[in-house]
Amino acid sequence: MNQAQLDDLIAYLRFPSVSTDSRHAGDMKACADWLRGKMAEQGLDAEIRETGGHPAVVGKNEHRAGRPTVMIYGHYDVQPADPLELWASPPFEPRIDGDKIYARGATDNKGQNLAHVLGLGEELAAAGDLPVNVTVLVEGEEEIGSPNLAGFLEANKEELACDVIAVSDTGMLAPGMGTFTYGLRGIACTELRVKGPSMDLHSGVFGGTVANPATAVARIVASLHDGEGRIAVEGFYDKVAPLQDWEREAWASLPVHEAETLGLTGAPELFGEAGFSDAERRWARPTAEVNGIGGGYQGEGSKTVIPAEAFAKLSFRLVPDQDPAEVIDLVRRHVERHTPAGVTVECVPGHSGPAYVMDPQSGYGKAAQAALRATFSGEPALIREGGSIPIVQTFKDVLGADTLLLGLALPDCQIHAPNENFSLENYFGGIRLNRELLRAIAAG
Ligand code: BES
Ligand code: ZN
Repeated sequence: MNQAQLDDLIAYLRFPSVSTDSRHAGDMKACADWLRGKMAEQGLDAEIRETGGHPAVVGKNEHRAGRPTVMIYGHYDVQPADPLELWASPPFEPRIDGDKIYARGATDNKGQNLAHVLGLGEELAAAGDLPVNVTVLVEGEEEIGSPNLAGFLEANKEELACDVIAVSDTGMLAPGMGTFTYGLRGIACTELRVKGPSMDLHSGVFGGTVANPATAVARIVASLHDGEGRIAVEGFYDKVAPLQDWEREAWASLPVHEAETLGLTGAPELFGEAGFSDAERRWARPTAEVNGIGGGYQGEGSKTVIPAEAFAKLSFRLVPDQDPAEVIDLVRRHVERHTPAGVTVECVPGHSGPAYVMDPQSGYGKAAQAALRATFSGEPALIREGGSIPIVQTFKDVLGADTLLLGLALPDCQIHAPNENFSLENYFGGIRLNRELLRAIAAG
């Protein structure tokens, strides 16, 4: 274990870089400045770059003709830490317990992107050079849907041109099991705002004569699925690409078991679409989720009121070849058809991005697998993931390059939840992986 590298991770994790919360705008900037300094210290030419939102940090080695250019992407922003009371130690005061470091952003994504930066530093110190041209791009808005990054890529297309992109922001199936992710689900978010009377009303005086927006939102939400858990939005499955035979076979032998999922989730039993395994449901089938729902009195005891409005925040995980804009349109029409009398509903679209898949046996895919083999023992697992990194498809569209997803997040790392943690073995493994990957890509 290298103490200086561990200290770097602790320093990085101390910044409460919560991108969605404007009260943390100063912390975002301070975190970006720290990362720029760290990249420079490791031997990269590093700059803070304005994007129109939270700044990005870009670092490069000397680019020379005749060798491939690799972009390494990550994000220094983190999800909010709430609910704070469920953390065993404060989220921005990193704590080491056994092989794990606990802090918000430890896995998602500071630990994983810092491993890449330090891998570059180690290689530069050992060899005086990197075997490829490298551009490191670490943004500050991934957790809010990267609203400014596509514009930044377009505006700096020539400068950011690359042959392939490497990202460590996905899962590793089990400790020591190198995992290559060749696909991600997409996402489409929308918020339903249901309005009824122009003010909250006494539910005795007016109850029975006006519709209740909270009841209406519950009915609309209930209409999204049928009794078997299939999505009931008309046309929703029309463009869903089926799993390929090789995927079904390969996934069946992976250590992804319902019993483990039960343990990880703490749910009383699993529930999902009939005819699909746990891995298939999570990686290759679309979903409709309610991420938040509310309206009316939320305080102690009871209050007899008909609320003036109610809301539901929805997100749909998408698979190839679903189009996010089309899905939002289908949902809007479905909601219109299922809105009960007496209320109005507005569908406000949020962020979105399509699913991503690449050929894991492409030249760069094979290089990624070779790097995983050299870093971890055994054959790498080839998987897709249920989570989304919408910018990955934008990389393909704008820069024309595929993204190699080499995840280091263990199943119990609790990303987006209290007590998020990162395995130190994976942190140091990630530093080695970065060096192996650049070598494998250079070897062609
Ligand atoms: N690192 C995650 C994505 C992820 C997690 C991929 C686990 C695979 C496995 C990323 O930071 C994330 O949370 N993405 C959001 C995207 C959204 C905000 C547009 C997601 O998936 O909800
Ligand atoms: Zn995340």
